[in-house]
Amino acid sequence: MAGRIPEHFIDDLLTRTDIVEVIGSRLTIKKAGANYQALCPFHSEKTPSFTVSPSKQFYHCFGCGAHGTAIRFLMEYDRMGFPEAVETLARQLGVELPKEAQSRPDPEAAPLYGLLDKAAATYQHWLRQHADRHQAVAYLRHRGVSGEIAARYGIGFAPAGWDNLLREAGHPEELVRAGLAIRKDSGSIYDRFRNRIMFPIRDRRGRVVGFGGRVLDEGEPKYLNSPETPVFHKGRELYGLHESLQAQRHPGRILVVEGYMDVVALAQRGLPHAVATLGTATTTDQVERLFRTTHNVVFCFDGDNAGRQAAWRALENTLPALRGERQACFLFLPEGEDPDSLVRQQGADAFRALEAEATPLSEFLLNELGRDADVDTVDGRARLVERTAPTIRRVPHGVFRDLLIDELARHAGVDRAHVERAVVGQTQPTQAATAPALRPGQRPQRRTAVRLAVALLLQHPELAAEGGEPERLRELNQPGADLLAQLLELLQEQPHLNPGAVLERFRDHRHGPALWKLATWDHLVPEGGAEAEFRGVMNRLNTLLVEQRLQYLHQQWQHGRMTEDEQAEWLDLLRRRR
Ligand code: UTP
Ligand code: MN
Repeated sequence: MAGRIPEHFIDDLLTRTDIVEVIGSRLTIKKAGANYQALCPFHSEKTPSFTVSPSKQFYHCFGCGAHGTAIRFLMEYDRMGFPEAVETLARQLGVELPKEAQSRPDPEAAPLYGLLDKAAATYQHWLRQHADRHQAVAYLRHRGVSGEIAARYGIGFAPAGWDNLLREAGHPEELVRAGLAIRKDSGSIYDRFRNRIMFPIRDRRGRVVGFGGRVLDEGEPKYLNSPETPVFHKGRELYGLHESLQAQRHPGRILVVEGYMDVVALAQRGLPHAVATLGTATTTDQVERLFRTTHNVVFCFDGDNAGRQAAWRALENTLPALRGERQACFLFLPEGEDPDSLVRQQGADAFRALEAEATPLSEFLLNELGRDADVDTVDGRARLVERTAPTIRRVPHGVFRDLLIDELARHAGVDRAHVERAVVGQTQPTQAATAPALRPGQRPQRRTAVRLAVALLLQHPELAAEGGEPERLRELNQPGADLLAQLLELLQEQPHLNPGAVLERFRDHRHGPALWKLATWDHLVPEGGAEAEFRGVMNRLNTLLVEQRLQYLHQQWQHGRMTEDEQAEWLDLLRRRR
């Protein structure tokens, strides 16, 4: 059973998840102003009153009042439990659940490691000893792989035939569970890998968890990989990472390539810092893993269209991992070449030179997004900023995010403040401008200063910095004052939380339902006016605090209980009020 999921993990998940993607993959949604609209899935209707806000990261139905974050949407729409919804979002982002929330290690996984290890040893042995090994040996020689490199990467050979491994290793049921054998519908079991060069995939700790097998003839598929098993998850492992770290404990950079043979060929030429994804797009989880070993990751792709698309996916999954000193670059190879062919033709030095000239992520990002935006026109510049802002929003706060904002401002020829506002989602029209008017029967909330302050904070979390010391608000003798204080404190500590994440924090709070109302409350503050309004309302609350204190002091005086300090304070307050 999964344990408790820590609050910060949920914050982080909701900061990185895009609710538009989550809902858009399940409903037909249409852009309407800054928001998206759909027919509400929670009540029947003919005109859409269900809106999804990308800047606030929540959905709200003006018809039936349904509302929530991406987590709540999955719970309601896909009928998931809370932990399951969290796991689903985490999986989509490719992040691991924190240890305390993970299910216990599968006790049945343990024997698989032994079996996989034994299989790897057997394949290796067969490359050296099996009667049919000659074609495999010749093939590796032809591709320039030495005995030393083959040994370092544990390369082996699976002979043709249906039951070589089954006979050698026994335990047919477990071989199936380890992904090494396949059970037919008839019940009979046969070897998965036949007549292939075998590349063992090792996890971080060096345990064999799966294999890639390359055909020796023209068969299909060219590469066959282990299926997902209790010990092998394609989105988590990287081929060659263990071997790479054996060669260099602290690599200056790591190169991510597409193929097993690329990794091996580079290592063969003295470039042991390459790893490969396993026939899938690079996940955030994989990128996190790489950045734990180096600050420099270079992604290598074909220069063609497919390569650029794959690179873009890698970029998107890299953004959430870009913190501190971490850097990512993209190396696009000439059409028709792969790292293997290139390093064989031109050698290691030439390859190193190419790596050094790889395109920084920021440059690739702006080039791709700016492709058809004409920065010579006002429209084009605005479009570029608008299009790029949501991508930058996914980058954690820090040096790199600042740099991206700078670069975008420079690229688009606008000022930095403008880009910053676009990134936090402020330049988009506020709810007031786009939300449908209140429906009959829906009572507006009375506009108190505390409510307005809470609503403004929820809708523009960045205002928290202007809110002053939260503690003093708790003194305020007004309904909701403690909630306002709590909210202010939370947002001052964690300014990156989006409104959805904030609301998720208060999901079990007694004020939770009221908060939701305020988050979607049409407070009629005009676009761009939120900051001034917030200052105004905070001033009003400060005045209330002063009045309240004066009243108290007055009472103290009347009852003859006033201390000297209080007397000084009283005079000071009276003077200041004037
Ligand atoms: P390529 O087809 O470009 O192969 O696939 P390659 O690495 O250049 O192979 P060689 O040089 O002919 O031996 C690139 C990578 O995509 C995955 C493998 O990881 C492969 O290394 N792939 C490819 C598969 O998983 N299955 C396939 O059928 C093909
Ligand atoms: Mn190749």
